[in-house]
Amino acid sequence: MDVRAGLVVLLCVMGFTCAVPVKFIDCGSPSGKVAMVDINPCASQPCQLHKGQSYGVNVTFHSAVESQTSTAVVHGVIAGVPIPFPIPMEDGCKSGIQCPIQKQQYYHYVTALPVKTEYPAIKLVVEWELRDDNKQDLFCIKFPVQIVS
Ligand SMILES: *[C@@H]1O[C@H](CO)[C@@H](O)[C@H](O)[C@H]1NC(C)=O
Repeated sequence: MDVRAGLVVLLCVMGFTCAVPVKFIDCGSPSGKVAMVDINPCASQPCQLHKGQSYGVNVTFHSAVESQTSTAVVHGVIAGVPIPFPIPMEDGCKSGIQCPIQKQQYYHYVTALPVKTEYPAIKLVVEWELRDDNKQDLFCIKFPVQIVS
């Protein structure tokens, strides 16, 4: 563990808000480019998501297009099979993004990811897309998580 990661863990243990950039895979973002993904709290990776808790998601991206709308589509990929993962707010324009989206601008997409108690305690890959007016991805990211009781 490097010094920075150690410091972050220490701050998290001390109860500070700890948002660590999450390692992600860009799964094709033709209408934009992802700069950073934060899950809060996520002290170690893959992020451990406790059942019954809600997690803050903050994706910083750069848009390559103009768009009136932005719609989030989330899947949980289990053994290679994408399963729709419902989130409370699908409208990106109500998740920290001021719409219409302008070309060549940075945006922070900020939303909550509640982890239901009935979810199984497994490892999976979360695939999170934000689609523009033409259903093209402003961003598409994948990151592993572990659901724990
Ligand atoms: C989202 O992340 C960006 C970049 O780190 C930060 O500037 C912004 O304050 C964050 N927004 C929220 C609501 O946490």
